[in-house]
Amino acid sequence: MLDLLRRPRRLRSSETLRQLVREVTIEPWQCIYPMFVSEKVTGPTPIVSMPNVFQYDVEHLVAEAKTAYSDGIRAILVFGIPAVKDDAASGAYSQEGIVQRAIRRLKHEVSDLIIIADVCLCEYMEHGHCGVVQRSGDRYEIVNDPSVELIARAAVSLAEAGADIVAPSDMMDGRVSVIRRQLDLRGFQTVPVMSYAAKFCSAFYGPFREAAESSPHFGDRRSYQMDPANASEALREIALDLEEGADLLIVKPGLPYLDILWRVKDRFKMPTAVYNVSGEYAMLKAAAQNGWIDEKNAVLELMTSFRRAGADLIITYWAREIAKWIG
Ligand code: PBG
Repeated sequence: MLDLLRRPRRLRSSETLRQLVREVTIEPWQCIYPMFVSEKVTGPTPIVSMPNVFQYDVEHLVAEAKTAYSDGIRAILVFGIPAVKDDAASGAYSQEGIVQRAIRRLKHEVSDLIIIADVCLCEYMEHGHCGVVQRSGDRYEIVNDPSVELIARAAVSLAEAGADIVAPSDMMDGRVSVIRRQLDLRGFQTVPVMSYAAKFCSAFYGPFREAAESSPHFGDRRSYQMDPANASEALREIALDLEEGADLLIVKPGLPYLDILWRVKDRFKMPTAVYNVSGEYAMLKAAAQNGWIDEKNAVLELMTSFRRAGADLIITYWAREIAKWIG
């Protein structure tokens, strides 16, 4: 009897045995490295709420991307901070936009690195919302269709610059189909759309908004991002994005939404990424800097939980460190 109860432990008696029966692993190429390129800086500029994350100018972005590639990273997700913001979000779709310029250089210098271009308007408009704002008196509304038009323009422009994948993070309705159609019309049939399909309205995006200089100046994102209480709605949103032509899915944030991640992978069986967002990063970094937690072990455990919950890919600010740790 006692012997039967003890049986599971036999598989844990040595590291080689544990390795042999391990169900998920973390590989550097599964980690996508988010990077910020800014028109306003001349060298790596620290983001206070995200230790070890920087805004780069194009030169330093390329250098950092090269090192990441040699560490084993195979894909980066690029966000841009323009020098000038305007109501038309022109920096988002100009060929001289900061991300477009960065992509051309990256493609030239690290051609095998996959460039995923985040597509959104919030960094490019003064008010910081992800879509076009229409005001009447002191009321305002984020108008869907005019936003989608600009977002599709940005996606095409990023593909023209050389982006390998476009990733719309705005959460407007119907944007995936419009982006898909516009890309196809202009000869970018092979550029996949990686959709932020289940993006919840989260307090964990706080530090990112410092990094991307994209905090809304009024109101919040509740009219376009999803209610953290709704799992079924997330599945319906994803089904729509797939019908519209999404090739890869993102669930975001990660840690508080592992249940969603599991359901998404289980139901749709699509290539699925989880976004381990800025707030998740900041809280663990802060604890580690205080000596309250072992950073490496905590991070690897966290990444294992994402893989176990069904993530094929993990978008994480720890990507480079992970690649070095697991070598
Ligand atoms: C919006 C966007 C956000 C993030 C990526 N794209 C935040 C938001 O909705 O304000 C957050 C990423 C993070 O927190 O790490 N375009």
